Amino acid sequence: MKAKAGNYLSLLERRYACKRFSAEYKPDKDTISYILECGRLAPSSFGLEPWHFMVFSSDDTIKSLGDLCFSQEAVYTSSFAVTILVRKGDCYESDSDFIRTRSERFPGGYGVFRPDYQPYHEFLQSVHRTEHWARAQSYIAASFMMLGAASIGLDSCPIEGFDEDALLRFLKKDEQQWLPGIVLAFGKRDEEIRQKIRQPLENLVEFI
Ligand SMILES: Cc1cc2nc3c(=O)[nH]c(=O)nc-3n(C[C@H](O)[C@H](O)[C@H](O)COP(=O)(O)O)c2cc1C
Repeated sequence: MKAKAGNYLSLLERRYACKRFSAEYKPDKDTISYILECGRLAPSSFGLEPWHFMVFSSDDTIKSLGDLCFSQEAVYTSSFAVTILVRKGDCYESDSDFIRTRSERFPGGYGVFRPDYQPYHEFLQSVHRTEHWARAQSYIAASFMMLGAASIGLDSCPIEGFDEDALLRFLKKDEQQWLPGIVLAFGKRDEEIRQKIRQPLENLVEFI
């Protein structure tokens, strides 16, 4: 199941945003666990792991998710899908239970963590960036999952087109505490792989 060392670029080439998945493919539990494990190992700001992975694997829930994603075919046809939620709100306050619990896992615990974290949190708050910062975490876990999928020959599509409030209602998650970062659809493609359309590096890069 593991990608060979040195094979990373070919994984990046292989992954593409699949828009139609095959109905034939049914994932086993190990495959879904592998994808989730890839997300679990993703880095997060201050190591806070602010996410929660919600898995859709039954026909009914996938149909409901498709409805919530503006009827996108990639979702309706997926074999399973993961919504990455991230925490929002007061939990990021430096004296919250969440920050205390998470930080206790690290060397020095909360006593060392807090003086490092608090000024950055205050800065994020002052520029109204906390929610953006939290949401950005989900993209990193998403990348890890999609590349993990590619490493075992599975296709995926990142989906940002969803009705955020309706999705939270469907998941029975408090909108004051959670926000949906991204939805990922997984399966085996039922279409040709599309060529990469990318800018050449010289258009993107500047060395200073
Ligand atoms: C954050 C994000 C959100 C996206 N949302 C959607 C989406 O809602 N529906 C969709 O079909 N593709 C979505 N895409 C896929 C992009 O359109 C696709 O990745 C891009 O066109 C590049 O193509 P490639 O991934 O095949 O290389 C999304 C991609 C990202 C990174």
